[in-house]
Amino acid sequence: MGWLHFFFLVSTLTYGLTQSSEVSAESELQLLTRELLESARQPEFLDWLRRVRRTIHQNPELAFEEEETSQLIRSELDLLGVEYRWPVAKTGLVASIGSGLQPWLGLRADMDALQIQELVEWEYKSKNHGKMHACGHDAHVTMLLGAAKLLHSKSHKLKGTIKLVFQPGEEGRAGAYHMLKEGALDNFQAIFGLHVAPDMPTGTIGSRPGPMLAGSGRFVVIIEGKGGHAANPHGTIDPILAASSSILALQQIISRETDPLEARVVTIGFVEGGQPLNVIPQTVRFGGTFRSMTSEGLSYLQRRIKEVIVMQASVHRCTATIDFMEEKMRHYPATVNDEATYKHGKRVGEILLGEPNVHLYGMWMGAEDFSFYTTKMPAAFFMIGIKNETLGSVKGLHSPYFVLDEDVLPIGAALHSAVALSFLDNHALAVKNH
Ligand SMILES: *[C@@H]1O[C@H](CO)[C@@H](O)[C@H](O)[C@H]1NC(C)=O
Ligand SMILES: [Zn+2]
Ligand SMILES: [Zn+2]
Repeated sequence: MGWLHFFFLVSTLTYGLTQSSEVSAESELQLLTRELLESARQPEFLDWLRRVRRTIHQNPELAFEEEETSQLIRSELDLLGVEYRWPVAKTGLVASIGSGLQPWLGLRADMDALQIQELVEWEYKSKNHGKMHACGHDAHVTMLLGAAKLLHSKSHKLKGTIKLVFQPGEEGRAGAYHMLKEGALDNFQAIFGLHVAPDMPTGTIGSRPGPMLAGSGRFVVIIEGKGGHAANPHGTIDPILAASSSILALQQIISRETDPLEARVVTIGFVEGGQPLNVIPQTVRFGGTFRSMTSEGLSYLQRRIKEVIVMQASVHRCTATIDFMEEKMRHYPATVNDEATYKHGKRVGEILLGEPNVHLYGMWMGAEDFSFYTTKMPAAFFMIGIKNETLGSVKGLHSPYFVLDEDVLPIGAALHSAVALSFLDNHALAVKNH
């Protein structure tokens, strides 16, 4: 046998081997995902998912007040016999399923509701006045509990540990930051998160590698002048004029100082000052939000917002104080997906839902505190569709008319589980091949 023949023989053999092991890994994953989805769609399982979600939906709790939600999660985990660390960041908890050994893979759900009065009339309408799960976090918790149930039945076979992260305070309060600060996610290899999306049909998911959601900060301004009679402007210092000039001048930061190809936002969301039509008030308050896909962008905007307002106020002989509320609210960094973790989620999603049902999600300037995790470890955030015209689950997140298609619950539970199981398998394979 000549050298060339030998080479061909060896390369054909290796090629055949790699191919067949890839094919078998692929079909194994296919079997696994199908089994998970079928289990999650069993009538009994489905009823349980709906019951959990509806209970949470009826009892929405705001950031860092998720006592009953946390209690419900712990009761369900206790029933399953799943162990957890609690409390973390006040109401949060981290449950563990598997061998306890590395790798540790995180799956995350947020628990808090919004200060919105639900206007959907249905049997399970919010019972807490002025509070509503209008961002679908009730479904996030339910899908993760569903995953706990699916994974627990396989826990003896796990090649590592799956960490279920139930966190408080996503809505503006940086619960994720506090979870990290308390060390609840130390030594995780990666983390994966899901958010319901009313702009995508049920049965589809979407994400993208790299930057996906914006970093975001907030500010409140007080402009102080000298109030007086409206007929006597020269005897006053008009803070309304100073506020108006400031607000107009802020617009130039985006239009004149920002690369047109770079995404940034400065929005004033409220203005408050004066009341009678014939009085110049002493003070005016206004505030808003600023956003960027990069942390440099965010700190640039913060610096310039302050300069512009202070100087515009001084042009009009007023003083300005600006509060960026960093202690309580914390600025959110941008959500930046790790390429390999994203690809893993995408591949599992394609096998679970079919390739045409996994989309490249467009960047947008919304913000999410999952971003804190993306700065600390490889992470991927996926949107999961809930749109169904028949059910009317087409209203945007944070709408008082928000409706959720509960068919998403078994899909999310199966996706979480499949992503986690195959992550541990891949990791074990990679270790063996070393
Ligand atoms: C939408 O919901 C209706 C009612 O539950 C169901 O019959 C239909 O199959 C759903 N459509 C899709 C696209 O999921
Ligand atoms: Zn929200
Ligand atoms: Zn949300």
